[in-house]
Amino acid sequence: MAAAVRLLLLIPLLILSYLTPSLATGEDIPLLDFKDSLNNSSALDSTWLKGTHPCRNKWKGIECDAKDNDNVSGLLLIGLGLSGVSEEMDIESLGKLDRLRFLSLENNSFTGRIPEFNRLTSLRSLFIAGNQFSGEIPQDYFNNMGSLKKLEIARNMFSGTIPDSLGKLDNLVELFLERNEFSGAMPLIAQNSLQTINLSFNKLHGEIPQSMSKFGAQSFEGNPDLCGPIISKPCRPQDTSINAPPSGEKGNGSNASGSSTKWVILGIVVAVLLVTIFFNKTKKNDQSFRVLGKDNLDEIVQVHTPSSHKRSMSSSRKRGNYAGLGSHSSRRGSLNGKSTDLIMVNEENGIFGLQDLMKAAAEVLGSGGLGSAYKAIMSNGVSVVVKRFRDMNKLNKDAFDTEVRRLGRIRHRNILPPLAYHYRKEEKLLVSEFVPKGSLMFLLHGDRGLSHAELTWPTRLKIIKGVARGMGFLHTEFANYELPHGNLKSSNILLSSNYEPLLTDYALYSLISNTHSVQALFSYKCPEAVLYQQLSPMNDVYCLGIVILEIMTGKYPSQYLNNHKGGTDVVQWIKQAISDDRVSELIDPEIATMKDSIGKMENMLYIGASCTENDHEKRIEMREAIRKIEEIQV
Ligand SMILES: *[C@@H]1O[C@H](CO)[C@@H](O)[C@H](O)[C@H]1NC(C)=O
Ligand SMILES: *[C@@H]1O[C@H](CO)[C@@H](O)[C@H](O)[C@H]1NC(C)=O
Ligand SMILES: *[C@@H]1O[C@H](CO)[C@@H](O)[C@H](O)[C@H]1NC(C)=O
Ligand SMILES: *[C@@H]1O[C@H](CO)[C@@H](O)[C@H](O)[C@H]1NC(C)=O
Ligand SMILES: *[C@@H]1O[C@H](CO)[C@@H](O)[C@H](O)[C@H]1NC(C)=O
Ligand SMILES: *[C@@H]1O[C@H](CO)[C@@H](O)[C@H](O)[C@H]1NC(C)=O
Ligand SMILES: *[C@@H]1O[C@H](CO)[C@@H](O)[C@H](O)[C@H]1NC(C)=O
Ligand SMILES: *[C@@H]1O[C@H](CO)[C@@H](O)[C@H](O)[C@H]1NC(C)=O
Repeated sequence: MAAAVRLLLLIPLLILSYLTPSLATGEDIPLLDFKDSLNNSSALDSTWLKGTHPCRNKWKGIECDAKDNDNVSGLLLIGLGLSGVSEEMDIESLGKLDRLRFLSLENNSFTGRIPEFNRLTSLRSLFIAGNQFSGEIPQDYFNNMGSLKKLEIARNMFSGTIPDSLGKLDNLVELFLERNEFSGAMPLIAQNSLQTINLSFNKLHGEIPQSMSKFGAQSFEGNPDLCGPIISKPCRPQDTSINAPPSGEKGNGSNASGSSTKWVILGIVVAVLLVTIFFNKTKKNDQSFRVLGKDNLDEIVQVHTPSSHKRSMSSSRKRGNYAGLGSHSSRRGSLNGKSTDLIMVNEENGIFGLQDLMKAAAEVLGSGGLGSAYKAIMSNGVSVVVKRFRDMNKLNKDAFDTEVRRLGRIRHRNILPPLAYHYRKEEKLLVSEFVPKGSLMFLLHGDRGLSHAELTWPTRLKIIKGVARGMGFLHTEFANYELPHGNLKSSNILLSSNYEPLLTDYALYSLISNTHSVQALFSYKCPEAVLYQQLSPMNDVYCLGIVILEIMTGKYPSQYLNNHKGGTDVVQWIKQAISDDRVSELIDPEIATMKDSIGKMENMLYIGASCTENDHEKRIEMREAIRKIEEIQV
């Protein structure tokens, strides 16, 4: 019988379409073939039954396309006591699952060399950590796995050198290789997409390439023969060609307390210089910060000052609940009493000094009308975003301090307050926590088809509600401000690991002196501001409307662009659609498949439309918009 079914599968699709659906889908067969190739798969016996549907009959460890629950999209066989020898594992059968994107065999007992997972060229995530795979991985193994975003092969017994093909995976975001037996020199794996790498507890040696120091020391620990500034271990003279400390330091970084101030200043100069240079390069249409815009990640710079005197450590504090920043401790930057350099306004994420920042590996994130932004990973592993503002001289130092402290005191689930600032006449730095998932703009438009697909209707609704709640809070807290937020747009909405939105760059209007810069605030893009320079909280409502339309349509609003060239004029589009009575056609096809919710999605589009009413007198008020948004359920 099984043979007959297999035969049928070989018959061309045309003929298949006349057959019953259960035979036509047939994803049970390749899965069972894979299971049969394992030595011990007893944990699957009770649900993996021939003739049943892997999705509809809820086979153990099977994930299916959210859309129609009909195609297998993930295999999560984690910690099930499975075993097998790699040579016998039937990976070819898994290749028949067209929609398979996620494969995890983590924490089982598989043995042998790495199986031919590289036949599964569409995989986005491959997790085989915690098995007993061993042997070398061919250098070119990952050549055809360009879709990979996450790879975890930690806690095995892989040996040999780390395949350099890993360095060419342009979509790779996370790479975990720790606790294997990899040896040899560090290959260069520092592509722009990569956010996390762990090479700890291997047997690597030699110098850590400079461009990898953005990952922080904890990515490299447990390799006694590695060296380089990032792990504060100078390489021996013969291999310090690139990373040698600046002349004058004579390789002796251990006692720099006397000159640390000098290095801090040097660090600032270098940072400012680099940021200025890259500002020119990365200038984009978007007027304000494009935090984590993918396009902007193509320049990576390091700002190093020599490691200096030991600083006193503050007790580690519990960090916020954002993913990836789990339990790092933070240092108190004593800076020889110069702690005024960086003023902490929010110590929930620990205390650090300007020196910690200047020693950190920095990465330019983007720039725009307000200034430039970079990400800094401090040596203690804590990542922050530093934004440099040029035209913020409206307030004197004391008033500035009061204002930023006020911003930093804000505690709301959907608001990301600044942690610290640095005040100098020419420039101001605002430091805030780095949120790993990046901005909503990045998720919606940056990497279409990958992260975009994660944004289901329930997730989008959650984001809109979170944004609305954050806005509601700001409009209460800063009720007397002309622009309580002033710069709401998708690049200023960051997402925590569970898609809780976090508003940033809020309430800056009162700080910015230069009229030209002020107009970079997105609230200046609403009609009454463009036409009459009229500022009011209603401007924020317009921006909220743009965000809603953007989220619901998945389109990049032309409103974000200076010249309105490119993108979609979402305001005009929804207006036209309402008058043509075809609102549902605007819904992003990615979520339009949830037929039962179409009505609710339409309602959300109507809210977006009433927020973007050109005439601000007819526009609904923030409170009313929030009330209507809260009414919508999944
Ligand atoms: C996935 O599902 C669609 C329809 O739900 C079906 O046409 C297609 O054949 C399925 N793909 C596979 C590989 O079974
Ligand atoms: C798995 O089974 C094969 C034969 O089916 C056998 O040769 C092999 O030794 C077994 N491996 C383990 C680890 O039990
Ligand atoms: C197979 O795995 C199960 C756990 O799922 C375990 O109880 C059983 O002992 C294993 N059998 C063999 C032969 O290893
Ligand atoms: C696998 O095992 C490790 C160590 O026991 C554990 O830390 C990890 O959470 C497990 N992974 C999963 C996905 O359960
Ligand atoms: C890397 O793995 C090691 C060992 O599991 C762990 O101690 C370290 O914190 C990890 N580093 C990062 C950056 O995840
Ligand atoms: C480096 O500093 C240490 C003390 O911190 C000192 O003993 C040593 O002589 C210095 N080496 C050089 C090359 O200056
Ligand atoms: C480090 O430098 C400071 C002052 O520059 C000096 O007082 C101290 O003795 C030095 N320490 C060592 C170990 O050389
Ligand atoms: C940036 O570009 C402007 C003109 O576009 C130029 O005048 C300026 O020198 C550039 N600055 C740097 C640091 O490259």
